[in-house]
Amino acid sequence: MIEPTSTATEQQESGRGLITALVVLAASACAVLLIWVINGAQQDPYVRASLELQGDPDHGGQLFRINCAGCHGLAGQGLLAPKLAGISERMRDPALIHQIVSGDTPPMPSFQMEPASMADLLSHLHKLS
Ligand code: HEC
Repeated sequence: MIEPTSTATEQQESGRGLITALVVLAASACAVLLIWVINGAQQDPYVRASLELQGDPDHGGQLFRINCAGCHGLAGQGLLAPKLAGISERMRDPALIHQIVSGDTPPMPSFQMEPASMADLLSHLHKLS
């Protein structure tokens, strides 16, 4: 007589084990991805360089009036583009830098500048309220 290699119950149990393993694997993959995303921006050399520098808010204000005020308003009160008053309470610096350099949300252009100028601009953005 030929013995079945495994009973239905055994097969069910090994199936459940496999599903548990997959769920655990997916959960850890998500956790790793999340940590990577959170740390990723800070590890970017440009972001790191900009955040390490002490910004000059006066020069940042000049940069703002030349590059940003046309859309966001002279005082960041909002014009064609959303208001930026209190923006640093809503967006952290790495996200602000990304918004400024990426060009991800047209019509806002992508701005390229030295880390020192970015630090200056950030110090001005921090003061908008
Ligand atoms: C041509 C117009 C234009 C210029 C110039 C511009 N922006 Fe914008 N900006 C926008 C628009 C439009 C949005 C909204 C994008 C969206 O969310 O779809 C935006 C969004 C933003 C946001 C996100 C606001 C929020 O509440 O989510 C920040 C921060 C920002 N801009 C900063 C700047 C800075 C700093 C400058 C100058 C270096 C600048 N922008 C120049 C049009 C502009």
